[in-house]
Amino acid sequence: MIDHYQEQTLGQPGFSRADFGENFMWGTSTAAYQIEGAHEAEGKGPSIWDVFSGKRGKVKQNHNGNLACDFFNRYSDDLALVQSLAIPNFRFSLSWARLLPEGRGRANPAGVSYYNRLIDHCLELNITPWITLYHWDLPHELEKKGGWANRDILGWFQEYAALCVKLFGDRVKHWMVLNEPMVFTGAGYFLGVHAPGRRGFGSFIPAVHHAALCQAEGGRTIREFLPDAEVGTTFSCSHIEPLRPLEKDMKAAVRVDALLNRLFLEPSLGLGYPLQDLKFMRRIEKYMQAGDEEKLMFDFDFIGVQNYTREVVKYAFWTPFVQANLVPPKKRNVPYTLMNWEVYPEAIYHILQKFSHYKGIKKLIVTENGAAFADTLQDGKVHDPERVEFLQRYLAQVLRAKQDGAKVHGYFVWSLVDNFEWAEGYDPRFGLVHVDFDTQQRTVKSSGYWYRNFLSKR
Ligand code: GAL
Repeated sequence: MIDHYQEQTLGQPGFSRADFGENFMWGTSTAAYQIEGAHEAEGKGPSIWDVFSGKRGKVKQNHNGNLACDFFNRYSDDLALVQSLAIPNFRFSLSWARLLPEGRGRANPAGVSYYNRLIDHCLELNITPWITLYHWDLPHELEKKGGWANRDILGWFQEYAALCVKLFGDRVKHWMVLNEPMVFTGAGYFLGVHAPGRRGFGSFIPAVHHAALCQAEGGRTIREFLPDAEVGTTFSCSHIEPLRPLEKDMKAAVRVDALLNRLFLEPSLGLGYPLQDLKFMRRIEKYMQAGDEEKLMFDFDFIGVQNYTREVVKYAFWTPFVQANLVPPKKRNVPYTLMNWEVYPEAIYHILQKFSHYKGIKKLIVTENGAAFADTLQDGKVHDPERVEFLQRYLAQVLRAKQDGAKVHGYFVWSLVDNFEWAEGYDPRFGLVHVDFDTQQRTVKSSGYWYRNFLSKR
């Protein structure tokens, strides 16, 4: 496969890797359910995403992750791609249900062996593995017991986290506890558009509180077993702006910002939930037990910032709770990607600045940034100039933020390969590498070559 790489001449931006400093960490990110496939291979239990995507009408075109990129069987070729693209850090998540098919109890030896081989192979190729403990694929057995809405998840998650660090902590130094808790609670337990497909406040509010507790508990568990590990967690972050300079729009923007950017971060920093700006979330206090305020806190070594876009917000009387609507980019006549997300590179600058102002945050790493476009394979090549431009423009803003004092220390592209984009199925392609989902053939896109050239010139 590597023999077929073709050198391509691509425009380089007016900055280089060296401008970010020697120790800046460069990588690419993935997640288990989106790439692994092998959904019931070798003792793996079902996850909520297996069950959700198996129901008709939940995912576009009824796609599912049963095969995905078949990374479970092809990880060695895919890591060779990572190496050939000169990417030093590889972020992936562990499938809880592959390691613990019932969610707890006896570990699945084949699952353990798979992650051991994956980690060992990373190290053999001189690629640093970065592990996310939870990227949305809760074991279905635990969902049957209430999932994130059941406070017992604190114990289940602690057991799972302890197992992972004991198994892999001798070789893995970079850990992230949760991937984007706002998305998996909001989309999964409030809107019902992601697994497990639950709706309403009754599920959402306890799920938020338990995820926030597990976020800190997971951090403590990793640190207890691995005092030298770099422990982080990741957040979905969007830069928020009011549509008009009207007080009602500005107040709506404050509420949306508190919900999307602050809800999970601030309690970890000891600032509590931002209930002043989110009055409708006050019923979360009903789920708080004595000592929870301390239990929500954890001193993370780094915070993973995942930014794709900005959101423009308008006051909306009829929208329950938050009384705000997002004004889509189409209506604002601005460029957007296949996800209908505005291309707005300054967003990442503002987010990095905003997060850098929190005293409690030591270090930021952009653990995801990227874009979906309609890439096509033509004559064995995938030419994706929009993605190259997107990455260059966002990176320029990361550099500007760094030069203006933001505490940013790394940048990971989402994603290595095109993959299963949750409720959107396989159509939005985010990869640096194109995947033909009929044949599993990989083709490095122009953006992949661009990233390699960028990383190779120091
Ligand atoms: C993030 C998520 C990833 C990926 C990406 C692109 O929210 O962590 O799994 O899907 O968005 O939509």
